[in-house]
Amino acid sequence: MTSPTPEPSSTPILGIDLGTTRSVVSYLDDHGRPQTILNADGDMTTPSAVAFEDGDVLIGKEAIKSLAITPDQVVQFAKREMGNDGHMISIDGYDYPAELIQSFILGRLRRDAERHFGDTAQSVVITVPAFFNEPKRRATMDAGLLAGFSVEAIINEPTAAALAYGIEHGFMDPDGVFKKPETLLVYDLGGGTFDVCILRIEGDAINVLGIDGNARLGGLDWDACIVDWLIDEFENNCDIDRKKLEANKGILQREAEEIKHSLTARKQTNVKIRLGDAVLQTQLTRSLFDELTAHLLDRTRFTIKKALEAAKLTWSGIDRVLLVGGATRMPQIVEMLQRETDITIDQSVSPDQAVALGAAVYANILSQRANGGESSGKQPLRSVDVTDVNAHHLGVLGVELSTGRPQGQVIIPKNSPLPAMNVARFKTVKPNQRSVVVKVIEGGDMRGHNATTIGTFSVRDLPAGLPAGSPVEVILQYNVDGIIQAEAIVLATGKKNRIEIKRDAGLTETEIDEWQDISSEIYEALGLD
Ligand SMILES: Nc1ncnc2c1ncn2[C@@H]1O[C@H](COP(=O)(O)OP(=O)(O)OP(=O)(O)O)[C@@H](O)[C@H]1O
Ligand SMILES: [Mg+2]
Repeated sequence: MTSPTPEPSSTPILGIDLGTTRSVVSYLDDHGRPQTILNADGDMTTPSAVAFEDGDVLIGKEAIKSLAITPDQVVQFAKREMGNDGHMISIDGYDYPAELIQSFILGRLRRDAERHFGDTAQSVVITVPAFFNEPKRRATMDAGLLAGFSVEAIINEPTAAALAYGIEHGFMDPDGVFKKPETLLVYDLGGGTFDVCILRIEGDAINVLGIDGNARLGGLDWDACIVDWLIDEFENNCDIDRKKLEANKGILQREAEEIKHSLTARKQTNVKIRLGDAVLQTQLTRSLFDELTAHLLDRTRFTIKKALEAAKLTWSGIDRVLLVGGATRMPQIVEMLQRETDITIDQSVSPDQAVALGAAVYANILSQRANGGESSGKQPLRSVDVTDVNAHHLGVLGVELSTGRPQGQVIIPKNSPLPAMNVARFKTVKPNQRSVVVKVIEGGDMRGHNATTIGTFSVRDLPAGLPAGSPVEVILQYNVDGIIQAEAIVLATGKKNRIEIKRDAGLTETEIDEWQDISSEIYEALGLD
């Protein structure tokens, strides 16, 4: 990719929480305090929605307004499609990668920051769910590139929230370390994703001890349970057929979210929805809502158990539970946690802003390090060492010679501190074998079930005349952002080569260039840069 060297900008590195339903952009002010930037509508959060309308691209609140008139032209929840193999989002006969949709949202936040600072914004740290697999992480970085950013890092959302919590509690004061070490369990339930992350905050370091989660579980799934209930209620009480109800699911989804919000504030809520001639007038109680969604809450309870196991801890090893994400406002969450443990449930950080604020803190730590310890603000920020872990095993998938069945081998176990590297050892099968092909997988079991195929790479140009059984070593590594790289060493020659993984999902460099051209044309047509 070629781009002219940009003029230096006075805008600090931004921290962006690119959420499934809403996104937030923050920065660290001159006093070392993270601040959220208001968008052009004066709001702290921007809906993660993009509408394509008569040659126009509407982003945020405007796109949400279009849902009432042209729902088919509005894209929401693109985060759920990031890094999915070959998945494109179809609008008006055109197919767009999720990265492009996300880049429009990032571009909107960039322009809001530029308006705030009166200067260009170049660098960013973007957050991702801790349980995001590697293709989703890469896709997020690519969305940043498409939005014209230099992506300095990505950071896990619960880790960012823990940083925001840390600064709230003054553990990063210039003259002090965290007064009392703490082991935190972050319960992060957003619109579309769920993470449980256990971290140790001690001195000037944050170490992640264990992660588990679900990249497709969030407030939206609670809404979907209300939608199903609404459909049943319509069918039982109104003269309307199921097909029509299914066709109006978008409207019911928005009503369902409203109902869910009401049930946070009160124990029952009135429901009145008109679909054509059919009017549904009824009530939903919080206790029925809790019943309808009990299976979802149970999944989060199970995930906590797995995260504790990953961290090799029990509840007795946790000092505090930190709630993050808008969906933790549902009373059932605190009630469930209180049934599980008598540990303090901490709701002191803003569930909407904590992640972006933490990303801004992390961004400043990185830029301070890059500047040899100089803070971009007037107030230096105590540097915190943040060590995250990988949420999934990284392995290779081969064939068991005796049975011909797929056989996996874990190279980097999950919950390894990042960066992490390890050596995978292979042997040539035939005399004079000139190449070895390796399939890289993340997660799943030893047979490759439920694994994400990252892609394949070939160790080529093995020297001629190697006997069968000659060793070839491949170094697989995760960098701090959780991105995978590979290097091969042919032991017979000692030659070490960086090898490119041919990836199953995501955009190639050429495709990024092409989509960058297309988005530049769109921006130009809209009078944006
Ligand atoms: N008062 C409330 N009661 C219940 N749920 C709420 C309330 N306010 C917000 N939510 C829910 O919180 C969710 C959005 O949370 P948040 O903004 O943290 O998610 P996100 O960052 O967009 O998604 P993710 O982090 O999963 O990518 C939505 O499902 C929304 O309905
Ligand atoms: Mg979020």
